[in-house]
Amino acid sequence: MEQPPIDQSELDARIRDHTEELLRLWWAEQGGAAKDRDLQIVSCSIPFPQQRVLRTIDLGCGPGDLGRAIAGAYPAARVDFVDRDPLLLSICRQVNQHAALPGTYRQLDLSDESWSQGLRAHGYDVIAAANAIHWLTPMQAETVLADVYRLLDHGGVFLFAEPAVPEAPFAPGFEKWKARQPPRYEAENWKAFWGRASSLVGYDHIRLLGARADSRIGDRMTARGWIELAKASGFQTVDVLWRDADGVIIAAQKN
Ligand SMILES: C[S@@+](CC[C@H](N)C(=O)[O-])C[C@H]1O[C@@H](n2cnc3c(N)ncnc32)[C@H](O)[C@@H]1O
Repeated sequence: MEQPPIDQSELDARIRDHTEELLRLWWAEQGGAAKDRDLQIVSCSIPFPQQRVLRTIDLGCGPGDLGRAIAGAYPAARVDFVDRDPLLLSICRQVNQHAALPGTYRQLDLSDESWSQGLRAHGYDVIAAANAIHWLTPMQAETVLADVYRLLDHGGVFLFAEPAVPEAPFAPGFEKWKARQPPRYEAENWKAFWGRASSLVGYDHIRLLGARADSRIGDRMTARGWIELAKASGFQTVDVLWRDADGVIIAAQKN
């Protein structure tokens, strides 16, 4: 993505008094109650004792909801928040500072093969991602998952929630059913978040995000596709923790 026309400290200052408002708009945009359920499923499924000093990455963290949910369940956790977007990272950092939650913040682009050089070389217990990997192309996702595998300690886990579609024979009927369900995502909520964020920072942040490339995974991957991606990266124990109309939550352990 393009970089903003103002520097980080100015960006931080322009949203400083509005981070709670932006976070509320983000929650609505990300699906409200469904998002909360996803965060709970991920943080409750981590197979480590709750007093552990959990070394964690929230990958594609956005404003950091997933990292904070994990830190809520593991009070001694050390979370590295990673995202390419300086505005979302700024919300994340400021919300965490208000909550006195320690963390490190890395502006890294996962589509850059050297992204993981900005982090410790290995030894993580948990790497988690919510709705972030599908922004990559399949080849980039393979590279990132191989990096995730390398970064994890033995016994460490990768937990991720991503959009998923049914296998082809079941898709038409499933999509008909889905069309009758209340939608998780609404265009109005997307506009409300990004419109407010852009008006606060004083430039069109949406334009910096660029066009959604057709080559990215998007919402075309099946649950089996996500499982195979994890297995191809070396993960031996892989399970589906949740599947609903919009997506899937996968847990994978490095044995
Ligand atoms: C739908 S948001 C989800 C954010 C957050 N995980 C959450 O659940 O609220 C997708 C996130 O992926 C990030 N992202 C997309 N492509 C990325 C890339 N190539 N490198 C790093 N982050 C990326 C976006 O900036 C955004 O924060």
